[in-house]
Amino acid sequence: MRGMKIFDYFSKNIGIDLGTANSLIYLGGRGIVMNEPSVAAINNKTGQIVAIGEEAKKMIGRTPLHITVVRPLINGVISDFEMTEEILRFLFKKTIGSSNFFNYNKAVIGAPSNLTEVERKSVEDAVLGAGANKVYIIEEPLAAALGARMPIDEPTSNLIIDIGGGTTEIAVISMGGIVRAKSIKIAGDKFNNDIIKFVKDEFRLEIGEPSAEELKINIGSALPLEQKMELAIRGRDMATGLPREVLIKDSFIRAAISKSLKTITDSIKETIETTPPELVGDILKRGIYICGGGSLLKGIDKLIEKEILVTANIIDDPLTCVARGSGMIVENLEKYSYLINNPLRPKDIKI
Ligand SMILES: Nc1ncnc2c1ncn2[C@@H]1O[C@H](COP(=O)(O)OP(=O)(O)OP(=O)(O)O)[C@@H](O)[C@H]1O
Ligand SMILES: [Mg+2]
Repeated sequence: MRGMKIFDYFSKNIGIDLGTANSLIYLGGRGIVMNEPSVAAINNKTGQIVAIGEEAKKMIGRTPLHITVVRPLINGVISDFEMTEEILRFLFKKTIGSSNFFNYNKAVIGAPSNLTEVERKSVEDAVLGAGANKVYIIEEPLAAALGARMPIDEPTSNLIIDIGGGTTEIAVISMGGIVRAKSIKIAGDKFNNDIIKFVKDEFRLEIGEPSAEELKINIGSALPLEQKMELAIRGRDMATGLPREVLIKDSFIRAAISKSLKTITDSIKETIETTPPELVGDILKRGIYICGGGSLLKGIDKLIEKEILVTANIIDDPLTCVARGSGMIVENLEKYSYLINNPLRPKDIKI
């Protein structure tokens, strides 16, 4: 590699997607090496971490009194700083190992485009606290579009929609910068809550979040399906307090999440309404790009096409594009320094 500095031989540079639902690590020179739910389980008596990631996610709704399962990010924002740092430390250790004494580890992390200074600082502090030596923040839509290899530097419109766990981010990017962006707190978690509420109201059955997510992923859709589907789900009957199983149809899930989906399509419309007209013309030509776990909801692309009247494409490997984009930046910090929020100063480049 041309221009490699002596420290680079020892350093492990990483790109991070710290998501409300999932956290990913891209190791420079390697690719994505970690992908775990952003979940931690803690023993309230001892204060010790019991599990992190996939193992902790399996415990949701199934813990004894002395164990609490936490999701330390809410709507893309850190709500429990210590637990966020623990999750990052766990991921870093698994990626880099604990003997990183000689290393000069740099990290690039994606953050929602509308974070306040305080929230942004808290992201930086968590990454540094977890063991990185230097951290750069990239706005998530830029990272996602770069990861998807969209032509973000060109003077044309790149309309990207990232439907994650906690937030949906809509952004129009041109010439390496965000022209318009909107971030709403309606995404995968809200769909799950919509389903919990719907099943409660319609069937007098209480179900937990994992069951709601199972319904969403397996039979959820944004538009009617060619083939009808149904899934049996178990929970507690609200009248008797006893276990009960009900068969849920795809049309019920669609009804449950339709209002949230409308909020998303309305927000896309609002974003386009405030975008300069030349770029709106480009959107028609180039289409809309969708990523994030929510893009896997069946028929979401067709719903967006129907409402916005523009072609919608789902990005390949939609759950990893923010991590891939952050990774591309950390692999080439000089080239992409104009994209990061705290750009490199000459002294950083030289080390
Ligand atoms: N096949 C699927 N159908 C519908 N939803 C899905 C599917 N697979 C995953 N999801 C949902 O995608 C969401 C997670 O997406 P993602 O990992 O992009 O979020 P995140 O980046 O952690 O969150 P955020 O970007 O909001 O901070 C979860 O709500 C999950 O239920
Ligand atoms: Mg995300």
